[in-house]
Amino acid sequence: MLLQHKTVRQIPLTQPAPDHAPRLHVAIISDGNGRWAVARGLPRSAGHRAGAETARRVIEAAPRMGIHTLTLFALSSANWKRPPAEVQGILRLLHEYLLTETTHCMEEGVRLSIIGRRDRLPATLRQAVADSEAATAKGTRLHLRLAVDYSAREAIYHAACRFYKVTELSPESFSTVLAEVLRGGSTEVDLLIRTGGEQRLSDFLLWECAFAEFVFLQKRWPDFTADDLEAAVNEFNRRERTRGALPDAIAG
Ligand code: FPP
Repeated sequence: MLLQHKTVRQIPLTQPAPDHAPRLHVAIISDGNGRWAVARGLPRSAGHRAGAETARRVIEAAPRMGIHTLTLFALSSANWKRPPAEVQGILRLLHEYLLTETTHCMEEGVRLSIIGRRDRLPATLRQAVADSEAATAKGTRLHLRLAVDYSAREAIYHAACRFYKVTELSPESFSTVLAEVLRGGSTEVDLLIRTGGEQRLSDFLLWECAFAEFVFLQKRWPDFTADDLEAAVNEFNRRERTRGALPDAIAG
């Protein structure tokens, strides 16, 4: 489905998309796994496992909603403060996901990238990430970016440290440097969804969300469905994005 809305204007900072292409970059803060599990008398790890299943369903559904890039927050750098067993459990789920889904991603035209630090990941996971990225590199239907050990502040800081070497200084060239730091690119987010009832950005895609529309949902991530994603996209399409200009009705 091609999304049509006269004021929806994707301004990619690094990769121009042709007009006929699906155009949405949706980013999701998949919050509420722990509470979902605790409410059912289950260990938090069961919530993360259910969350990984939700991620599979959402990834499958995204391309038919005009989404070209989907960024999911799988592990924040701040999450290292959690008990090591919980963090290791999330990393194991991610590893399982890469092992079981890479072939499916290739078949479905999904290009998979990991954004975030890699040096603190187990070596076997780092290898699985590299293998999946290489195997899916030609996918054009959906760019799936999993944020793992990710901190937007840290990424911006590292990009700033490299930026002094750049001769042509502009927001676009900064974005290019940030994309290099992140490896998985850096395109402007159109729609940011956060499940689980909290209403904050939690160090996620600070640069890329400058003009994003936000949708906050009470629902916890394991209960999130493809219909919820579609409803959020529909809500996004109803909003007028002016980027600081006047709304069309007033501008004439
Ligand atoms: C936030 O819920 C969720 C996380 C920190 C982990 C998210 C991980 C996944 C969805 C699984 C990995 C993804 C893939 C694609 C395999 P929380 O634990 O902060 O929930 P709470 O706020 O209820 O405690």
